[in-house]
Amino acid sequence: MDKFVIEGGHQLSGRVKVSGAKNAALAIMPATLLNNGMNVITNVPEVNDIFTMIKLLRHIGVEAEYREHYINLDTNNIISQHAPYEHVKKMRASVYVLGPLLAKYGYAKVSMPGGCAWGPRPINLHLEAMKKLGADIELEGGDIIARASKLHGALINFDISSVGATGNTLMAAVMAKGTTLLQNAAKEPEITNLCEYLVKMGARIEGIGTSRLEVEGVDELTHADSEIISDRIEAGTLLIAGAITKSEIEIEYKNSFHIDSVLSKLQDSGAKILINNDIININSKDLEIKNVDVSTAVYPGFPTDMQAQWIAYMTLANGTSTVTDTIYLDRFNHVPELNRLGASIELVNNSAIVRGVKKLRGAKVMSTDLRASASLVLAGLAAEGTTEVLRIYHLDRGYQKIEEKLSSLGASITRVPTTEF
Ligand code: EPU
Repeated sequence: MDKFVIEGGHQLSGRVKVSGAKNAALAIMPATLLNNGMNVITNVPEVNDIFTMIKLLRHIGVEAEYREHYINLDTNNIISQHAPYEHVKKMRASVYVLGPLLAKYGYAKVSMPGGCAWGPRPINLHLEAMKKLGADIELEGGDIIARASKLHGALINFDISSVGATGNTLMAAVMAKGTTLLQNAAKEPEITNLCEYLVKMGARIEGIGTSRLEVEGVDELTHADSEIISDRIEAGTLLIAGAITKSEIEIEYKNSFHIDSVLSKLQDSGAKILINNDIININSKDLEIKNVDVSTAVYPGFPTDMQAQWIAYMTLANGTSTVTDTIYLDRFNHVPELNRLGASIELVNNSAIVRGVKKLRGAKVMSTDLRASASLVLAGLAAEGTTEVLRIYHLDRGYQKIEEKLSSLGASITRVPTTEF
């Protein structure tokens, strides 16, 4: 087990490159189950969730080989349609194998995910959509068993816009007989990345990038390659690292429009943002951080995956801000930990009332989930003295060597093995 030891108060400077988006790769890798052949996926981040997905795909029979930032996935010899508990309990995104296995093999057995660090995260929308496409769904010994001799097209109107349910349903619908209409579909860039990959495989999808996706099922899909988009959450996290340390830094990041909501909030807080092709420059030197309210929303709104980092930033604002999460009402495990660093945050239902303080002071804090951990690292960079962030295995699930990126910008952050838990 490792921890981060951070000496706060260093100004950052320089440029770092943003890695590929874990959440796009986690959808695209299982999509390869829809074909038989060799698929090359590039710009894949080197993070633990990707290795968990590789293990699951290998269990299913995919020959998977990770090389620096690309993966070869050979789907010629599938031997199982089962995603066992040992994989699903590690990573909920394992349920992404449900749709493609069901569509291609007529059968899938996927362990039912339990709760997560910040409360229930149901998959009812995934299952209801599979039923509408003609699947029989049973729960047996903690496993979802889905069967269908041939899926058929359907009208699916999601009650809630869900990234996972949209991805899973798309991967089933592309091989269903007839037309499927997905209404209130997620339009997050990771879903667009998935749609574009499915189209490369021969799928017929209209409305890509919108909340109305029309899918004309095909009998067969062919192997294809995909390039994973850059990670908008890592981009946003690094920009806040620049802002909270009152520095000027640059990030190399394609598709800056994917984070318009974050960039505009950063500007509201007083940070200067300049975009030049694939480079975003943030200048927060001598910044008096203005208090800025944020409410999370589906894309293109402010991402829930940036909520914790925004709270960390607002702890040092010149006033009080309200940060509301409308996607995950309980996703606030970072709040008591940030308060240990001297922040003044109160939780009222699904809102954090953040009263800006003059400074944070280093302390030992504990990671509880991926984005919560990122918020603690950001706070540690700005805090006076030493901050130790324990249980950083959460960070390793989704940020590629964040300590190396931050160190290259001049931060004092070291990974240290520890027996502390
Ligand atoms: N929901 C349901 N029923 C369902 C599915 C979702 O009620 O069957 C609800 C959820 O409880 C939540 C809302 O719908 O309130 C949206 O959840 P969504 O399904 O969109 O989330 P997800 O697909 O499980 C992905 C990301 C998350 C990110 C969310 C929201 C992946 C692998 N995960 O999760 O990423 O927070 O979308 O944008 O793509 C992270 O990277 O730290 C992370 C948690």
